Amino acid sequence: MSALLRDLAPMAIQAMAVADLDEVLAIEQQAYSHPWTRGNFIDSLSSGYLSHVWRDDQGQLQGYFLAMQVLDEMHLLNITVHPRLQRQRLGWRMLELLAQLARERGCRQLWLEVRESNAPARRLYEAFGLRQLGLRRDYYPAHGGRENALLMGLDLPQESPS
Ligand SMILES: CC(C)(COP(=O)(O)OP(=O)(O)OC[C@H]1O[C@@H](n2cnc3c(N)ncnc32)[C@H](O)[C@@H]1OP(=O)(O)O)[C@@H](O)C(=O)NCCC(=O)NCCS
Repeated sequence: MSALLRDLAPMAIQAMAVADLDEVLAIEQQAYSHPWTRGNFIDSLSSGYLSHVWRDDQGQLQGYFLAMQVLDEMHLLNITVHPRLQRQRLGWRMLELLAQLARERGCRQLWLEVRESNAPARRLYEAFGLRQLGLRRDYYPAHGGRENALLMGLDLPQESPS
């Protein structure tokens, strides 16, 4: 188990399972204008993507992320904090865990796409050190049309052996 994962106890952090999806979808639908569907989550879980759900001491779901590893790159697909709990550093801590797990799996880069209009997420990513590396035009569905995605990336230095 990752040392960071151990340090984060007692907050319960576990791989996402199909049994979590009712709660995940309840948050997903509140958090996004264009939420993922149950099928999107099931496809990601059956593909074996890296995923974690975060619960509080009472077992209430607080947030989750899913990421796809391709060779030595980790691509963040979804990171979501319950709307009631946003701006309390949970997103940051999930990114820290993801970066740590990615490094442990030998990844050298973290990638993601973010809606151009998603200022909170862009601020989080920039504060975390991600930089814009590209623009994908009309990448996302939007009300009344399409919206651009920013492609962002971060180098993940490998830990030197001690
Ligand atoms: C984006 C999201 C995951 C951020 O998680 P969070 O737990 O609210 O963010 P954090 O509290 O960890 O914020 C860390 C830093 O990011 C920046 N930030 C996060 N939310 C911000 C906001 N609403 N406005 C300005 N800056 C923000 C700040 O620099 C913040 O540090 P600070 O609070 O010390 O100033 C969360 O807002 C969310 O789930 N949004 C809906 C789903 C979504 O858009 N996901 C991303 C898809 S690409």
